Amino acid sequence: MDYEHIVAQLSKILSAKRLQHSVGVSKTAEKMAEFFGCDKMKAKMAGILHDVAREVPVDELLQRAQAFGIVVNDMEKAEPILLHASLAAKLAQVKFQIHDVEILQAIFLHTTGGPHMSPLDKIIYLADVIEPGRNGGNLEELRKVAYIDLDKAMLMALDQSISYILARGGLLHPATIEARNELLIKKCTPTQHTI
Ligand SMILES: [Fe+2]
Ligand SMILES: [Fe+2]
Repeated sequence: MDYEHIVAQLSKILSAKRLQHSVGVSKTAEKMAEFFGCDKMKAKMAGILHDVAREVPVDELLQRAQAFGIVVNDMEKAEPILLHASLAAKLAQVKFQIHDVEILQAIFLHTTGGPHMSPLDKIIYLADVIEPGRNGGNLEELRKVAYIDLDKAMLMALDQSISYILARGGLLHPATIEARNELLIKKCTPTQHTI
């Protein structure tokens, strides 16, 4: 399905505000992809579809995820809203005929992040946080760093997300911690010189 067609479909299932957010993520992701030499079309597609399941009622998320054969863990049972990312990846595939695994993975990881994220995964994660419709927090700094160093921006965004969750006494997803640990270890590992 092409981009315009997807937007038309999304306008029937998402609120105007959510659609505006998704367009914002899509445009931001496209811009970042251009800047970092990634596939712009993949970024645009992942961005527009990342929240396709965000307005599925919480009590339906579990049921719909299980109907798609998504394995639901205890964390997701306790916080079904987390499932909107994996459900979105399934819907992108089944309803919107997106079969590119890189796009599907970026959609899948957009809420929790995770280890071994590709540049596209990082771009979608960050675009979701910094798109023009978002405000508050430390966004101005993050918006600058997001165009300088993807890993540094990811660390900032993950720290911000973890602080937000902790302040509310929420559950921390292991994938979020793994993503942060991996970036910190990478940052702390000295560059190997061969001479
Ligand atoms: Fe989301
Ligand atoms: Fe989003």
